[in-house]
Amino acid sequence: MDYLSPQLAMPPVISLDDINKQAEIAAGMMSSIRSTMLMPRAAKKEPVFGADELSDLCGLSGRGAVAHYIKERPDLPSGMLTTTGRKRHFGLSEARVWVREFQKEKLRPAGAEAITITVANFKGGTTKTTTSMTLAQGLSIQGHKVLVIDTDPQGSLTTLFGILPDLEVEEEQTILPLVDGSQHSVRPMIRKTYWDGLDLVPACSGLFAAEFMLPSLQQSNPEFEFWSVLDMGIDDVRGDYDVIIIDSPPALSYLTINSLFAANGLIIPLPPETLDFASLSQFWQLFSQLTGSLLQKRGSSKVFEFQNVLLSKVSKSVTTDVVRQWISQTYGAKVLPLEIPRTATTSLKSAEFGTVYDATPDDLKDRTYKRAREAYDQFVEHVERQIATAWRRQVMEQNRVAA
Ligand SMILES: Nc1ncnc2c1ncn2[C@@H]1O[C@H](COP(=O)(O)OP(=O)(O)O)[C@@H](O)[C@H]1O
Ligand SMILES: [Mg+2]
Repeated sequence: MDYLSPQLAMPPVISLDDINKQAEIAAGMMSSIRSTMLMPRAAKKEPVFGADELSDLCGLSGRGAVAHYIKERPDLPSGMLTTTGRKRHFGLSEARVWVREFQKEKLRPAGAEAITITVANFKGGTTKTTTSMTLAQGLSIQGHKVLVIDTDPQGSLTTLFGILPDLEVEEEQTILPLVDGSQHSVRPMIRKTYWDGLDLVPACSGLFAAEFMLPSLQQSNPEFEFWSVLDMGIDDVRGDYDVIIIDSPPALSYLTINSLFAANGLIIPLPPETLDFASLSQFWQLFSQLTGSLLQKRGSSKVFEFQNVLLSKVSKSVTTDVVRQWISQTYGAKVLPLEIPRTATTSLKSAEFGTVYDATPDDLKDRTYKRAREAYDQFVEHVERQIATAWRRQVMEQNRVAA
């Protein structure tokens, strides 16, 4: 039949009303999924640690070290005996007390403040959110106190905490009040989470309003520095945390620029794929033009303590080998000497609103899981070392000023 024939049925056009209805249906579906299939917030639980794991975390040697200290040090939390009474389990908050006791030299020294790490890449799907969450969890298991700030209006990081951005987060509870000037500190927006030692400033789609507010504020007041709103909002809490981790949107947006300028350290997760590699080279060009036009014109400057490229979602293939070569030639020492494998396990865990650090004891027997877990442990260790160096610089700088 002729496609212009009047007999041919015409599908209806889609109106804005239809889109509204679709939005309601999708939101309803999300909330019912959360309360049935996925881990609801009530079910998001802190991990537990066996005595051997705790011993490793504390750097203790010899079997029975934990049992020994339970006798000798009644001030330390003694965990819970399992039902058979043979094994002991420690909750995250208990484990963190032990780690802080036995790994004192790794903790933030007096006179130093939180190191801010932004996870960025303009491309979506490069594992920014997964990287932010695992790094935050990993560092908190090492005894550090961590604040994570979700600056992506999509709120994926917020979702990983078992919180539904558009149902459970109001605009005033995100960083938006810093943008409109109704708050000058992130403190009122910080909330406790299911994870001991890990606090969150969440995001929701209303945060997208920042993309209109920031340029318009700049327009009406040329003195206004739209890029330093987040950086200044963090000042008030730098003394309260060891590390602040910022997850950023997958675009060169005003919020992303704020995230970049608030960073002491930058982590760029990069899957070794051709398009991801190409997109990252645009990132550096835009970033360099931006810093040139925003800062240098005003005679100010910005330094980073570290910039890491993290190979992520790495699979075995010929393309991977070729692109890995390009990455190492282009980014040299910036590339971290470890890779996060592409594993069904990590994607599965995310589908349950969790990461490798949300694992259950059953997961620990899975080989693919173990490989992913070990890679993330190494990643956390590398970042922890760079944080220590940044603290050292802060303390030296303080001593120099005091002298
Ligand atoms: N190591 C991994 N292997 C396989 N899939 C992964 C891995 N890490 C993350 N993912 C999945 O990749 C997708 C994108 O990750 P996400 O962290 O949301 O990226 P971004 O924040 O950069 O958009 C998610 O579905 C996530 O579950
Ligand atoms: Mg994301």
